[in-house]
Amino acid sequence: MPSEKPSILIIEDEAKLRHLIELQLTDEGFQVHSAGDAETGLKFLQKQPVDLVVTDFKLPGMSGLDFLHAAKRIDAHLPIIVMTAYGTVESAVDAMKAGASDYVLKPFSLAELVIVIRKELATRELREENRSLREALGRRYEYKSIVANSEKMQTVLALVERVAPTNATVLLGGESGVGKDLIARAIHEHSHRASGPFVKINSTAIPENLLESELFGYEKGAFSGAVSMKPGKFELADKGTLFLDEIGDIPPAIQVKLLRVLQEREFERLGGTKTLKVDVRLIAATNRDLRAALEEGSFREDLYYRLNVVAIDIPPLRDHKEDIPALANFFLEKFVRDSGKSIRSITPQALKLLMDFHWPGNVRELENIIQRGVALSAGGALDVADIHLDGAARRSSPPGDGAPGAAHHVLPEGMTLEQWEDETIREALRRANGNKSQAARALGLSRNALRYRLSRMGVADPPETDS
Ligand SMILES: Nc1ncnc2c1ncn2[C@@H]1O[C@H](COP(=O)(O)OP(=O)(O)OP(=O)(O)O)[C@@H](O)[C@H]1O
Ligand SMILES: [Mg+2]
Repeated sequence: MPSEKPSILIIEDEAKLRHLIELQLTDEGFQVHSAGDAETGLKFLQKQPVDLVVTDFKLPGMSGLDFLHAAKRIDAHLPIIVMTAYGTVESAVDAMKAGASDYVLKPFSLAELVIVIRKELATRELREENRSLREALGRRYEYKSIVANSEKMQTVLALVERVAPTNATVLLGGESGVGKDLIARAIHEHSHRASGPFVKINSTAIPENLLESELFGYEKGAFSGAVSMKPGKFELADKGTLFLDEIGDIPPAIQVKLLRVLQEREFERLGGTKTLKVDVRLIAATNRDLRAALEEGSFREDLYYRLNVVAIDIPPLRDHKEDIPALANFFLEKFVRDSGKSIRSITPQALKLLMDFHWPGNVRELENIIQRGVALSAGGALDVADIHLDGAARRSSPPGDGAPGAAHHVLPEGMTLEQWEDETIREALRRANGNKSQAARALGLSRNALRYRLSRMGVADPPETDS
């Protein structure tokens, strides 16, 4: 935080609540201004810029939504937090779409509001510092064992660099296989806890009845079978980092206990009475949309805000395809080193195949495919024939996505019709072992039509295998 007090404008028509928020925020060291309706709030903003706005969504006169639009015209980067009532989730969604940074559902506790405000201010500060730092130095972030040339991945690394030295809890989001484990380790390794332990626990891999004792440990005799004391992961991670993987699947009873450790940094072992204090930095990861879990009520809101101090979202591979060539070569080198083979490169055609794929399994899937290619290849370069994309098996919607979207019935997410068609042709060719007549028959195409499509796809005429 800058030494100057951050300024906050509160817009709330209910005088009592407005006053309460004013008091609390002043207490927290903010410079507070307030308005009873959106028009007054806007007039204020036009005269005097602030660092953040907290506004009610249901206001007399100008609506919260209109206010959002108008305020964004004054300052497009102004963080705005919207207060909205329970049961009006749509309005929260509308607010987020209109550019609100975050929302709190009424009734909320003032402590919760403060957490959200601090998070927004920190994020804004990080973003601005990053931008100016990178602009000043023309700097690129380079991490050993992380390929990140794209703008999107550079942004991720910039965030890693900024949060690593702090003790802030980090929430890593992103689909399966995007590199959450990798980034969690990078944060640990670039922190001053690097010489301390990095302990990981995956809540889905452990049965619910064991999860609690895994996290917090147990005393001798805590339950039948507890023949000696066992420390939990929190203790093991003391002076280091604890990585809670798949946080979205933690059962409610354990969520309560986690909340306490996060708030007070203390806990007891199962069956124990002694309170233990630990110095642990927490990194949590999820491949689910925790917001949805919040709305469903399967994930505690207070825990969410505690975890989500700094959020780092790692993009799916299909959104930073420009990293594919470097990633593919990075994995090629790695697996060739282990294999003793002398594969030196990936042919342009094979690379095109990789570029065109939609990668539902993200970087992990790319890694597996290169590994398989290296194992099977006999030549000096990985070619189209060595790349076995998991076409058919992958053609369902991504896991966890049960939303009835019209597109899902027709095409897998992230795939265009053209990519789908290309994949089908490649699959047919593979099944026919490269025999084009046979593949053409399977596809109901003439041999010439297939040849034409292959040339359009940039697949070179493979050696003729037709007899
Ligand atoms: N940018 C990258 N550069 C190099 N390797 C990467 C990159 N991203 C991911 N990987 C590699 O891809 C594999 C999968 O990554 P990781 O295990 O971190 O994914 P994840 O997001 O934790 O997946 P899950 O949700 O399934 O746990 C790992 O072997 C990792 O080293
Ligand atoms: Mg992982």
